[in-house]
Amino acid sequence: MARQDPLPYKQQAAEQAVESIQSGMVLGLGHGSTAIFAVRRIAELLKTGGLKTILGVPCSHQVEQEARQLGIPLTTLDEHPTIDVTIDGADEVDPNLDLIKGAGGALLREKIVAQASRREIIVIDESKLSPALGARRALPVEVCTFGWRTQQEYLQSIGARVDVRTKDDGTLFKTDQGNLILDCAFGPIDQPASLAMKLSARAGIVGHGLFLGLATDVIVGGAEGVRHLTRHHGM
Ligand code: A5P
Repeated sequence: MARQDPLPYKQQAAEQAVESIQSGMVLGLGHGSTAIFAVRRIAELLKTGGLKTILGVPCSHQVEQEARQLGIPLTTLDEHPTIDVTIDGADEVDPNLDLIKGAGGALLREKIVAQASRREIIVIDESKLSPALGARRALPVEVCTFGWRTQQEYLQSIGARVDVRTKDDGTLFKTDQGNLILDCAFGPIDQPASLAMKLSARAGIVGHGLFLGLATDVIVGGAEGVRHLTRHHGM
């Protein structure tokens, strides 16, 4: 059977998330092919007067550029250390609404923004729902260039198959911070919190894609329509 194009589902989820935004808010602008639909919708509403005096904090250089082109006024976490609502995508979402993020490489800024947000709304198409984190996606781990092979060996020693991320031309992918990404296939992760602690304790690992307890809402677009899951109710 042909795989359903997820883009319309992504768009529906992102546009529903924008309905939670009110004028005057400071917003986190997520990175990726789903979150960009929210950025575009916010820009539309600003033009038509449906939203006023919004300020955006972009999660990547790419989103910053896109938001500027669309005329969304921007700010920084230094000027506004607390964000009202962030709308961002995810690569895998488990039944606790915990996430794997980082396929787009913006995981460190995305987590800084998520931790600064009163509300973190994740927008996905239904293919991202998963029984266990790691079952479908490798876990992105951001590492300093200095000593990165040591981190690769460490990650292998705790059970991952590790690929250093490269660009289409074969050169190493660098994050907005100039770091590398190691994509770590663990398979289903039994204890994500314990893995997150191990990774966070390691010098040279500057971020990882386990987003635990951060999503307040997950909006899922799919063949049956759009579902809104919240941390209290779960799936
Ligand atoms: C970016 O680093 C990621 O965390 C994205 O939010 C995630 O990969 C989702 O991307 P898509 O919306 O493009 O699937």
